[in-house]
Amino acid sequence: MTGGQDEFLHPLSVFSVPPWFRPKSHKTRCGGFIAELSVARNMTHVLETGFEQMDATNPNGSPKIRGYNIINGEISLSSDGATFESHNPALFADCLGEFPLSTKEDVHTALAAARAAFPAWAATPAPTRGQIIGNMGRLLMEYKDDIVRVETREIGKTLKESAGSVQEAIDTCLFFQSEGRRLYGQTVNSELPDKELFTYRRPLGVCGIINACNFPAAVPFWKMIPAIMCGNTCVWKSPQDAPLLSFMLTRIMHEAGLPDGVINLVHGKGSGAGQDLVDAVDLGMINKISFTGSTAVGKMIGEICGRNLVSVSLELGGKNPLVIMPSANMENAVEGAYWSAFGTAGQRCTSLGNLIIHEDIYDEFVEKFMAKVESTTIGDSMVHENVLYGPMLSERYAKDFLRVLQMCETSGVTKLWGEGMITEDNKPLNFLGNPSEGAYVWPHVYADVTEDMECFHEEIFGPAVTIVKAKDFDHALHLANASPYGLSSAIYTNDRLEAYRYKTGIKAGMTGINNSTTGAEAHLPFGGVKGSGNGTRESGIWVIEAYSYWHAVNDELSGKLQLAQMDVEEIELEEAVADYSGLA
Ligand code: UN1
Repeated sequence: MTGGQDEFLHPLSVFSVPPWFRPKSHKTRCGGFIAELSVARNMTHVLETGFEQMDATNPNGSPKIRGYNIINGEISLSSDGATFESHNPALFADCLGEFPLSTKEDVHTALAAARAAFPAWAATPAPTRGQIIGNMGRLLMEYKDDIVRVETREIGKTLKESAGSVQEAIDTCLFFQSEGRRLYGQTVNSELPDKELFTYRRPLGVCGIINACNFPAAVPFWKMIPAIMCGNTCVWKSPQDAPLLSFMLTRIMHEAGLPDGVINLVHGKGSGAGQDLVDAVDLGMINKISFTGSTAVGKMIGEICGRNLVSVSLELGGKNPLVIMPSANMENAVEGAYWSAFGTAGQRCTSLGNLIIHEDIYDEFVEKFMAKVESTTIGDSMVHENVLYGPMLSERYAKDFLRVLQMCETSGVTKLWGEGMITEDNKPLNFLGNPSEGAYVWPHVYADVTEDMECFHEEIFGPAVTIVKAKDFDHALHLANASPYGLSSAIYTNDRLEAYRYKTGIKAGMTGINNSTTGAEAHLPFGGVKGSGNGTRESGIWVIEAYSYWHAVNDELSGKLQLAQMDVEEIELEEAVADYSGLA
């Protein structure tokens, strides 16, 4: 973060606002810069204050921020004052800030704010809601470089990939901006005269939003932008490992003209504020939950929502298969498999799980693939250029990853590469920097994996790939369908019939043909089947279905009671027998 500091905080003030973060409505809200300096800790509107800098000894000189919840547009601490810290996973000693460890009371306050804001927001014309969303997209573009650096500092993604994630949020805003001018319903013909039928999309109400930290800009925007487009209001539980970025984004949403209470941010743990948000479904305080995370937690959330008949979007795990057939372009396939497995340090829900290779090209492919794996460049992308991946998203993710590796290594596989945690005495050739400063792990490759092994079925969230040998296409397709998940999938082949059979035979929400398993675009439906979700989709126009319900309205203009199905004019067949068979 060195070099970015001056932009980030005014060096002379405790509570300061950099020029690029000054709200457009600044004058009307607080009447001048002095007001910003006398910010109170509570009941202050988020746009009336800048970022509060705390005492810090960060080795890179980057600032440590006092972060807040944002409820009804106002910043607040947690009701019991508890906090947690956000650390840079590439440099543990770099603390980004302290954030409220929100309590149940905080979550309920946020839900009440969202509930209170709902009627006015739902009544706001959809094109106006779209205009605010468009403003968000434009502000994200304006601040993109700063957001990207914070994303990389907070979760360790490479700058290039952080830019991709922020761009996905921008694309989502630009896509939904104009949906405000559509959000179409239908006019439907009635079976009765002087009667009209219509359908309208109606908002669901208050939405609880919970996302993982690996796409901390893109994924919450996938959820909240269509949610507010449809007229819903939200309580967003930020990911525990990306609170600063979430705080920034929520602030930017308010800068865009979002009315207070429409999006309310609470920080905290999944098992704390996250669970409180989900429990609020049982209390009748929530009309929708949208969750991205593990299948186990997703099933728990689905049960709670199910018993309350509350709508739920679940975007869960994956064990994404990628098949390599003999007709494939070998270099392209190696490139795609390598990126699918190790880009983002394998921390996408779309990352490659089982690499399924046809036996005829197995040796050649593995040799080429391993040459790339062995030369992988790893390090802190804030400091080093051209690293493929940085640290794990946080120390927690690194620990979980190492635990899952144990499961692989005890299941009889052949380890081709990977030595767990990277340390000074145990590092790959192209590791850049000091590994003990952050949460770095080796890329891992396991071969001789078979269908009966646990590691064939379990998602490994991190840089590890399990290789399976296939006898022929049918066997490869069988293997691709044999895991309990069905999120993404891919095949490399130049045989068009094979590509067609894969596309039609695979049970997955997404399929790449001669492409990697990752990298879905912001206007296509994203989501899975089987253990990867409940069939709802994120992103693209289809997501509207998940945040609205259809309201059918009939308007009886005849002035009398006409009964559908019963008072409908019946047209009898005319009796006129002719011999059509003799005409030709
Ligand atoms: C996720 O990992 O939860 O398709 C989202 C992709 C990205 C989104 C991943 N556009 O890989």
